[in-house]
Amino acid sequence: MDSTSTRSARRRTGDELELEIDSLAQGGRGVARADGYVVFVTGALPGDRVRARLTKAKRDYAEATSVDLLRPGADRVADACTHDGEPCPGAPWQGLPYDLQLAEKSRQVAEALRRLGGLEGFELSPIVPAVDGWRYRNKLEYSFGERDGAVALGFHRRGSWSEIVDVEDCKLASEPNNAARNAVREWARAERIGAYDSRAATGILRNLIVREGRRSGQIQTRLVTSPGELPRPPVDLHTVIEGRAGGTVGPTGVLGAEHLAEELGGLRFRVSHDAFLQTNTEMAERLYGIVAESCGLRGGERVFDLFCGIGTIALSIARGAGEVWGLESVPDAVADAEENAAANGIDNASFVCADARLGVRPLIEQAGSPDVVVVDPPRAGLSKKIVRRVLEADARRVVYVSCNPTTLAPNAAQMVEAGYTLRRVQPVDMFPQTPHVECVAVLER
Ligand SMILES: C[S@@+](CC[C@H](N)C(=O)[O-])C[C@H]1O[C@@H](n2cnc3c(N)ncnc32)[C@H](O)[C@@H]1O
Repeated sequence: MDSTSTRSARRRTGDELELEIDSLAQGGRGVARADGYVVFVTGALPGDRVRARLTKAKRDYAEATSVDLLRPGADRVADACTHDGEPCPGAPWQGLPYDLQLAEKSRQVAEALRRLGGLEGFELSPIVPAVDGWRYRNKLEYSFGERDGAVALGFHRRGSWSEIVDVEDCKLASEPNNAARNAVREWARAERIGAYDSRAATGILRNLIVREGRRSGQIQTRLVTSPGELPRPPVDLHTVIEGRAGGTVGPTGVLGAEHLAEELGGLRFRVSHDAFLQTNTEMAERLYGIVAESCGLRGGERVFDLFCGIGTIALSIARGAGEVWGLESVPDAVADAEENAAANGIDNASFVCADARLGVRPLIEQAGSPDVVVVDPPRAGLSKKIVRRVLEADARRVVYVSCNPTTLAPNAAQMVEAGYTLRRVQPVDMFPQTPHVECVAVLER
């Protein structure tokens, strides 16, 4: 259990160590150093002394999960969101005061751009704080399990694949989201429907996703099950029941509305089950405002919105542009985007369903070179090939919306190498109590 002779005695997975956390790594885990050996510790914050169990042990570094907080760091604040006595796994930074969360996110953005992208000379704007620290998520995913013979519905216990911690009130979610989850659990218990057990291959219920239209008050739920007969779920929950391979099973399939209604920046949107929607509605509006400003439109420009989802960015900027073209790979999201343009009376927005790898060249041929390209890819960022396609578009400005500075950095570096200048990076806090940070980066030729 000592923390000083780590290197001499090679550690193994499952070993427990006492560690002092001295900083936070990219991605948010605590960093401890023991005799030159670096340990990345889930569930630990700077200043903490913890007992941690190794989950991976390599020659020069290890990964671990905190199993006991022996002495909290001086800056720690009490956990506000706990489930069954455990800190909420969705809020790993809740012990850090909010001003320190913001400072750490800014530091991580700057570090990623400089160290992973070799980028210098850009303006790093002060991070935009979140409007609400809690109850901001419009979507949460829960897992089913069994506890004391009854169905449990909540999150995996930290470091466990099989144990589910029942959730009564998750403070990242609104009260209606919590109520919807609890209603599904009560229904499962009352109807005696079992949770799916992957080892025994028995039971039915696997996951529940609850999404909420913050402005419409609507709830959209997706119940993921194994094939089997189910009694009718609560009808006011818009429920889709999926089979093992994703096919719809059960007596009724889709109940209630298939599309969630939401409003953003004064525009009305419909959202299909398979379509992406920013999980913090209020901060999405702030983000889209920053994107619109970053595009610097005067009225006649052609804009590409790549990775456009249901058309939120394209439609937010359409009135200030000549024409906008959205590209997105999920067919239902593209159908939503077209419907959303029509519902808002926007007639200068067109949408294409394609993979960005293959769809950008034909889009340039069809629409002509854009003045501005907006990209908003998933966490993995852009592949080198997609960056090359963006470069071929030859826009004078690229506005890159990123949810992961470690992938923004190499993508922006590739663009800089091809002749763009990274002008400005604006971090935005969409996810308080977590290490996630959003950025809007502006590159110009
Ligand atoms: C981070 S979301 C952004 C969506 C939208 N801009 C918004 O704010 O709602 C990324 C989107 O990219 C889409 N996507 C992922 N990979 C893609 C690809 N290779 N080509 C085109 N779209 C892709 C996803 O379906 C998702 O809608």
